[in-house]
Amino acid sequence: MFEVTLANIDFAYDYNVVLKDISMTITKGDFVAVVGPNGAGKSTMLKIMAGLIKPTKGQVSIGGKDMSIARVQGLIGYVPQNYGKNVLGFPATVTEIVSLGLTLSVSRARQNQQAAKHIVNHMLELVGAENLRDRRIGELSGGQQQRVMVAMALASNPELLLLDEPTSGIDYEASARIYDLLGTLNKNLGITVVMVSHDIDKAINSANKVACINKGLCFYGSSQEFNETHAQARHLWYYAG
Ligand SMILES: Nc1ncnc2c1ncn2[C@@H]1O[C@H](COP(=O)(O)OP(=O)(O)OP(=O)(O)O)[C@@H](O)[C@H]1O
Ligand SMILES: [Mg+2]
Repeated sequence: MFEVTLANIDFAYDYNVVLKDISMTITKGDFVAVVGPNGAGKSTMLKIMAGLIKPTKGQVSIGGKDMSIARVQGLIGYVPQNYGKNVLGFPATVTEIVSLGLTLSVSRARQNQQAAKHIVNHMLELVGAENLRDRRIGELSGGQQQRVMVAMALASNPELLLLDEPTSGIDYEASARIYDLLGTLNKNLGITVVMVSHDIDKAINSANKVACINKGLCFYGSSQEFNETHAQARHLWYYAG
């Protein structure tokens, strides 16, 4: 059974410990909203889940496999924080950007131009960006760019989709469309989603689980439980850390 397991994770940048004793299990089909204040370690935790950095202590695995192996096999799609902004000046088309997702995968499509084209088109349709395929990434709006980033992360047919603040800086309607899209990918395709967000209410609406990080794990449980137990206090403790 596919499961993401974090067991007693610590992480330090040099000697600065930013994550302490994080343990959680994410089950196939979960949609986990990761919340917590600035500097709490959310992006660091996502990078660990993406297999990009290794914990200083503890284990992390997906379906019993090491994350770095799962990543190479294309099982993990990752949309980093501010990724759209980072590629703004990059003179590539939407099709080229989404194709980058294929190179992470060991899928046979890599050796087959026609199949690769088909997958890229299919991903753009999935995120509702098929009409943008020949546009340059830098000319798109923030919401359109995020959809393209999600398409890129999906191109390797991942089991696990990690998104770091996919709606930050995006207007109400465009972010609602991104939440809808993630909900559809999660429910209809069974993709497990872990999403960092500062918009607690919207994130909790889409998610079935909430992880609150502030160096340690201050809460991990169902969205319902989070709502019930933290309804009054959560904005206060969120900002108080
Ligand atoms: N590459 C790095 N080198 C050294 N320290 C880092 C590095 N990246 C992050 N940090 C530090 O680690 C801590 C956690 O950072 P992280 O980016 O994981 O927080 P975050 O919860 O994602 O915050 P935000 O909500 O602002 O995105 C911060 O104190 C940050 O300064
Ligand atoms: Mg962050």
